[in-house]
Amino acid sequence: MRALKNLKPSVNDASENHTINIGLLGLGTVGTGVYRIIQQHQEDLYHQTNCTIKVEKALVQSIDKQRAIDIDAAALTTNSEDIVMNEDIDIVVEVMGGVEEARQLIAQALEQGKHVVTANKDLVALHGAELLTLASDNDCDLFYEASVAGGIPILRALVEGLSSDRITKMMGILNGTTNYMLTRMSQEGLDYKTCLTQAQELGYAEADPTADVEGLDAARKIAILGTLGFHTDVSLSEVKVKGISSVTKEDIDYSQSFGYEMKLLGMAERDGDEIELSVQPTLVHHTHPLASVNGVFNAVYVHGEAVGETMFYGPGAGELPTATAVVSDLITVVKNLRLGVNGRGMVAPYKEKKLKPNSRVYRPYFIRLVVKDQPGVLAYITQTFANFDMSISQIYQKPLGNERAEVVMITHKVSLASIEAWMEDVETSTEIENIASCYAVEGGKQA
Ligand SMILES: NC(=O)c1ccc[n+]([C@@H]2O[C@H](COP(=O)([O-])OP(=O)(O)OC[C@H]3O[C@@H](n4cnc5c(N)ncnc54)[C@H](OP(=O)(O)O)[C@@H]3O)[C@@H](O)[C@H]2O)c1
Repeated sequence: MRALKNLKPSVNDASENHTINIGLLGLGTVGTGVYRIIQQHQEDLYHQTNCTIKVEKALVQSIDKQRAIDIDAAALTTNSEDIVMNEDIDIVVEVMGGVEEARQLIAQALEQGKHVVTANKDLVALHGAELLTLASDNDCDLFYEASVAGGIPILRALVEGLSSDRITKMMGILNGTTNYMLTRMSQEGLDYKTCLTQAQELGYAEADPTADVEGLDAARKIAILGTLGFHTDVSLSEVKVKGISSVTKEDIDYSQSFGYEMKLLGMAERDGDEIELSVQPTLVHHTHPLASVNGVFNAVYVHGEAVGETMFYGPGAGELPTATAVVSDLITVVKNLRLGVNGRGMVAPYKEKKLKPNSRVYRPYFIRLVVKDQPGVLAYITQTFANFDMSISQIYQKPLGNERAEVVMITHKVSLASIEAWMEDVETSTEIENIASCYAVEGGKQA
C-alpha cells in the first residue's frame, strides 16, 4: 500500500474544524464564479465537508483590473509560484485556459502534492492521460468535470452513476455557440453569417470562432467522453471532425421538410470492441430527444447495454453553471482528504483501442446535388448509387432554372467508405454539377 504522503494527518479527524486553502489559477469568468460560490455557499460546503474552504490566492494577468467580486488585493498575484509552490495551499483550481502554461503549472502543483481541479477541455483532451498518471503517482486527485458540457455533471454520471453498465453510444450537443447559431438559422430562417455575427455580439462566439464553428471544441469534449465511457485512451486526432461553416439555410430548410433538425453532434459509438468517434453536422429526426435541444444549451445522450437510453441536459457554459461543476469537484477532493483516499479513485483506461474502419461505419446520409435538368439524370444518379451499394430512402427534386435542378435525398444506411468513394467518383461527372451538401442522419425510419 502506498504511503499517503500528501494527507495532512489531522484532516481526517472529523471532530476538528479544518481550513482547506484553495489557489485559483485564473480569476476570469469561471474563476469569479468559483470565488462567488465558495463565498456564498460557505455553510453548505462546511456541512458537506466539515471544513472551511477558503480562497487563499488567485493568479491573474493584471492586478489592477477591475473585478466583479470583492476580493482582498493581497490575495491576487501575478506570480504562479505563489500558488503552485505555496505550502499553505492544498488544492489548485486551474481556470486560466490555454494549454502549455496550464499544463506546466498543473504538473508542478501535482509534484508538490497539491490536488487539482481544472475546467480546461483543451488541456484535458491533449494531456489528460499524462496528467492523470502524474496525479496518481503523487497520490493526488485531478478532476475535470467542468471541461465537458459546463454545468451538466456528465463525467460523474459516466464514472459513477453508469459505471456498472457497458456504454454503447454517446451523442452530444457539446458546443453552445454552434447550437445557438443552428437554432437561429432553423427557427428564424437566418443565414450562417448573420447568426455568427449575432453570436459574437452576444459574447457566445469568440472574435476568432474557428474552434467552435469548425467543430474542434466539440471534438475535444467527445474525446474526453470517449476515453471515460469506453475505458480506452482516445486521442483528439482519432475524432473525425467537420464543422458547421458549410451549413446553409437551404440545407436547414430541406432538413426540416424531411422532418429533421440540423445539429452539430459529437458522436462516440462502440460496436463490439471497435469504436468510432466523430463531430459533424447531423440531421437529427424530430422525434429524437436531442432534436429539441435549442439555443446555447448542451445535452448528452448516453445509451448503455443495460440502462438503455438516458439523456443529460443543461447549460454548457457560463460563470455559475461552470463554477458549480468546479466547486463540486472541490467538494469531492475535500471528502477524499477526509477519508485519506486521494489519488485512489481513478480507473486508468484499460481496454485496447480498436478504431472501426470506415468500411464498417454505417449511417444514412442527406445529400443535396445540383444537376442538369435533363432526361436521364435521375437514372444516372440511381446507377452510380447502385455501383457503391447505396440506395435512396426519400427524394425531392426542385427546378432551379437555366436547365438546372436540385435533387435532395436521404439515403438508406451506407458505409462511410462507400459514400466517400461515391463522392470522388461523381466529382468529374457532367450530369452532376456539384455536391452542394452531404451530412449524416440520425434517427427516423431509414436509421
Ligand atoms: N467560460 C465558460 O463558460 C467556460 C465553460 C467551460 C469551461 N471553461 C474553461 O475554463 C477556463 C477558463 O475560462 P474563462 O472563460 O474563465 O477564461 P477568462 O475569462 O479568459 O479568464 C482567464 C483568467 O486567467 C487569467 N490568466 C490567463 N492567462 C494567464 C497567465 N498567463 N498568467 C496569469 N493569469 C492568467 C486571467 O487574468 P486577468 O483576469 O488578469 O485577465 C483571467 O483571470 C478555460 O480553460 C475554459 O475553456 C470555460
